Amino acid sequence: MTVVGPFGLSMQDEALEADVRYGMAAVEEALLDATKSDTPFITAAAQHLLAAGGKRFRPLLVLLASHFGDPAAPGVVPAALVVELTHLATLYHDDVMDEAPVRRGTPSANARWDNSVAILTGDFLFSRASQVLADLGPQAVRLQAEAFERLVTGQILETAGPRPGDDPVRHYLDVISGKTSALVAVSCRFGAMLSGADERTVDVLTEFGERIGTAFQLADDILDVASDGHESGKTPGTDLREGVPTLPVLLLRAMPADPSDPDDTRLRELLDGDLADDARHAEALGLLRRHPALERARRETLRYADEARALLGRLPHCPARAALEGLCDAVAVRTM
Ligand code: IPE
Ligand code: IPE
Ligand code: MG
Ligand code: MG
Repeated sequence: MTVVGPFGLSMQDEALEADVRYGMAAVEEALLDATKSDTPFITAAAQHLLAAGGKRFRPLLVLLASHFGDPAAPGVVPAALVVELTHLATLYHDDVMDEAPVRRGTPSANARWDNSVAILTGDFLFSRASQVLADLGPQAVRLQAEAFERLVTGQILETAGPRPGDDPVRHYLDVISGKTSALVAVSCRFGAMLSGADERTVDVLTEFGERIGTAFQLADDILDVASDGHESGKTPGTDLREGVPTLPVLLLRAMPADPSDPDDTRLRELLDGDLADDARHAEALGLLRRHPALERARRETLRYADEARALLGRLPHCPARAALEGLCDAVAVRTM
């Protein structure tokens, strides 16, 4: 068994593995090229997070989905480039919004330079993504624009918070569907569509992308609580500090308080107060890691990963399907 791609995804098929490895190398080269500007400062800022690493989850999905058609079709690698450039750009903007100091194990662009540099570098990357996208034709441009609208809407909905009367868990799932699942779904769609897969396959893979995208973000939010920051390359507890309620906290709030449990009482008290304070933040994070709500959030994440895997049952057995199934497991394992 050989290993390639993010989360140590295993591929049992040597031909698929070689092909994906080759494709990912092409994407990497194209990323380096697409982030170069005639202005050296822009190149430095744009390549700052690119060079810092990242899982390349979205390009991997493009490449795997392309194996349901002709993976050598000319649009496949450019599409993988477009989704990763778009993703990269959103990271620059997201770290400004979230006031995040660390990204991919390195200072975020807003920390390394300032908010203006981070925002404009994100815009530069979006413009480069658009230039590549233009060559993929009007349908691809439209699909990407629609996904991008959903992404931005998700980010704005997160900032705005639920309206009075909204179910906070429903609101959170809508946020995730926009800010993360939309781009993951379009990654799968592009891979299938640009490789010439049939319409039904394109639809199944798009729906698969929606589910695995949601599982991916839920897992990421759990990692924000449960990890020590080495694995994620981000500062743990950022959501908590910024007051972004994610599933563990939302499920906790939906559970009845347990007055016989001093930890539960104390955690609720902390969550209702100011978590910008370092000592209170550390105490809340410690208590949340041990609270049953975290386990419930894990189970919910597994449910989405299982739904994604079940959808693949509608596709023919092939090495790419097995690899996508492996990806469902890998996303779920991240939360453990
Ligand atoms: C981070 O995405 C933002 C989310 C949508 C969870 P990734 O976890 O794909 O980030 P990188 O690209 O690996 O750094
Ligand atoms: C991820 O937002 C979504 C986008 C970047 C569009 P988050 O704020 O949840 O992700 P991390 O934890 O900073 O990677
Ligand atoms: Mg963030
Ligand atoms: Mg954010």
